[in-house]
Amino acid sequence: MNNQTAVKLGRRLRQLDTMLEQPYSIIWDCCCDHGLLGMSLLQRKLAEKVVFVDILSPQMALLKKDLEERFPGDELNWQVICQDVKELEVPEVESQLFIIAGVGGNKTIQFVESLCAAMPGLPFDLLLCSVHGNYAVRKALIEHGFGLKKEQIILENNRFYEAIHVSQNSTQPIVATGGNMWDRLNLDHQQYWQKTLAHYRKKAAADPAVFGPIVADYEALLITG
Ligand SMILES: C[S@@+](CC[C@H](N)C(=O)[O-])C[C@H]1O[C@@H](n2cnc3c(N)ncnc32)[C@H](O)[C@@H]1O
Repeated sequence: MNNQTAVKLGRRLRQLDTMLEQPYSIIWDCCCDHGLLGMSLLQRKLAEKVVFVDILSPQMALLKKDLEERFPGDELNWQVICQDVKELEVPEVESQLFIIAGVGGNKTIQFVESLCAAMPGLPFDLLLCSVHGNYAVRKALIEHGFGLKKEQIILENNRFYEAIHVSQNSTQPIVATGGNMWDRLNLDHQQYWQKTLAHYRKKAAADPAVFGPIVADYEALLITG
């Protein structure tokens, strides 16, 4: 989109965009829908190729048209695939990043697991921002041998999100409750911690064996200012 204006991103997508600094061979915008994040990365030339993946065919037809208009002559640098992320065939290329944003925690975990199964022995990076369930998402990342690169709390339209950038080439440990993303002096973070704790306390009242340890982990953080 060399001769056009910058892709307009909302706060959440803008924060995800700015978290990414290193170039990749291929960036996969999984569950891309409108494809705005991938488009911004394409515009920034952060990858040799950006692949847009979503299961919704009418949306992908619109996206393809949009890309053709915005990036004339750049067709070799992007691809649109209308498919279930769980069925993706991934090339054996080093330096690949998969973005999974805007879906629930369980789906995010399923996608991470299917990518790990599709690429055994080939390390890759992930940028995740699920709509909830980050504790379970991080547990799955730890199980699959990922290490932390960056993480951030994002507040958009009164909703909290966690952006988690991880790599199978990183040795920085991932903490299930989030590690260095918490700023004890930040009132929004204090509110997010209280909300998260209240959510898991409610769940622990019904199922203490499963959720009691999660409550204990969040209590230990003590984000109270
Ligand atoms: C809310 S949108 C997220 C858009 C964008 N990633 C964002 O964060 O703003 C969720 C998208 O996930 C897609 N999706 C859900 N399950 C999928 C699957 N199994 N494979 C591919 N796409 C899927 C939906 O079609 C939908 O477009």
